[in-house]
Amino acid sequence: MDAKAMKIEAARAALEHVTSGMRLGIGTGSTAEEFVRLLAVKVAEGMKIIGVPTSERTAALCVQLGVPLSTLEETPELDLTIDGADEVDADLSLIKGGGGALLREKIVASASAKMIVIADESKIVDTLGRFPLPIEVNRFGLKATETAVRKAAASLGLSGPLTLRMTGGEPFVTDGGHLILDASFGRIPDARALSDALHAIPGVVEHGLFLGLADLAVIAGSTGIRTLVP
Ligand code: 5RP
Repeated sequence: MDAKAMKIEAARAALEHVTSGMRLGIGTGSTAEEFVRLLAVKVAEGMKIIGVPTSERTAALCVQLGVPLSTLEETPELDLTIDGADEVDADLSLIKGGGGALLREKIVASASAKMIVIADESKIVDTLGRFPLPIEVNRFGLKATETAVRKAAASLGLSGPLTLRMTGGEPFVTDGGHLILDASFGRIPDARALSDALHAIPGVVEHGLFLGLADLAVIAGSTGIRTLVP
């Protein structure tokens, strides 16, 4: 099975947890998009769900495929969020934000009674940190925020390149109008401590460590699907 086929299989297995009447958070990224495609088929067959998308990109795909949408203003409590991840460890701690949607993804997951992560087996790690940690920051005071992030990381024994995410020669701008610093700190032995330290920096809007949010991971590998719980 190639990577795309694994993403489809993970999405298909997660879809079995979706029932008519659900209020669904819908993730961002290539795996989440496979989920949207399969969900759209169910909707066309009569399944009644309402989706809250985690990005403009996901919203556009849902509209294109006829998946009914709502907002957290109209629907502030959700039954289930299904989303991809950049890394998943054995506790179902995650790194997310490779697609730049981490803030909305975290808000939507936090508004959901349950979160299911869908991924191929390449996303499984022993310790988070192989994938650069996305940190969403306010444009104002960027250099000061960078310095504060470096100091916070150093206080935990972490260091490494902190790179402003670019696209087409320009800084990448999130759906919320912020910038992203990708932190290549390597292994993160104490993700909770790093999360707390980053949250204490005023210029940090949010970071891509998702701790204690995922209830189930549906992982597709060459030998089939396996599910992980924290
Ligand atoms: C977007 C995300 C994505 O879920 C994550 O990057 C995984 O994407 P993909 O399924 O394309 O590998 O967090 O912000």
